[in-house]
Amino acid sequence: MGANKKQLIAQMTQRLATEKSFGVDFLPAIPSRVPAAVPDKKQALETLELEFRHCMLCALSETRTQVVFGEGNPDARLLFVGEAPGFDEDRQGRPFVGAAGQLLTKIILAMKLKREDVYIANCLKCRPPNNRSPFPTEIVACHPILARQIEIIQPKIICALGKFAAQTLLQTTEPITRLRGRFFDTAGGARLLPTFHPAYLLRNPADKKLVWEDMQKIMVELGISK
Ligand code: URA
Repeated sequence: MGANKKQLIAQMTQRLATEKSFGVDFLPAIPSRVPAAVPDKKQALETLELEFRHCMLCALSETRTQVVFGEGNPDARLLFVGEAPGFDEDRQGRPFVGAAGQLLTKIILAMKLKREDVYIANCLKCRPPNNRSPFPTEIVACHPILARQIEIIQPKIICALGKFAAQTLLQTTEPITRLRGRFFDTAGGARLLPTFHPAYLLRNPADKKLVWEDMQKIMVELGISK
């Protein structure tokens, strides 16, 4: 058996073990190859959004105000992925517009970018009641939407904000403290860098400097001069 095949089997075995430890016994569709380029990304994202506007794949459909699909530049080189919409996002239908979102906007500006330059999405498209942590089954049910967003946008860099995004996208249970600040190659072609979630930074401002170090690594990858 070729080295590539062995590596693939090892990756799949690891992934299945991770899914099982989350209590999941079926697999979502995840990009496992470099996807074909999508000729009209804006149109493809709009079609996807329409397809899931009335999504009822999990019980969050009963408590949400609306699906928060994500927003930004369909051709973004940088994609931020958070956890799930909170109160403000659920009301406004836009990701990261509450207190954590304002901090994320400041971080983006500090990177010499604008919100309109990047794309912002979440692992879950619907707000969990009282902002509780996502259930593994909700992450699995919702993952095909995020996977498709990544396939369409084909960002150069994915910045996973916090534990849930990092662990979901890397199919691992390693803690965020060990994952953050390191680049990981993904099967879809993007390089993924986990960092702390802005909501965590609001509670632990001393760690802002670590996130800024991470963002500077992304700026280097994107060729943005400091
Ligand atoms: N936290 C998230 O993870 N996502 C949002 O959209 C808002 C807050």
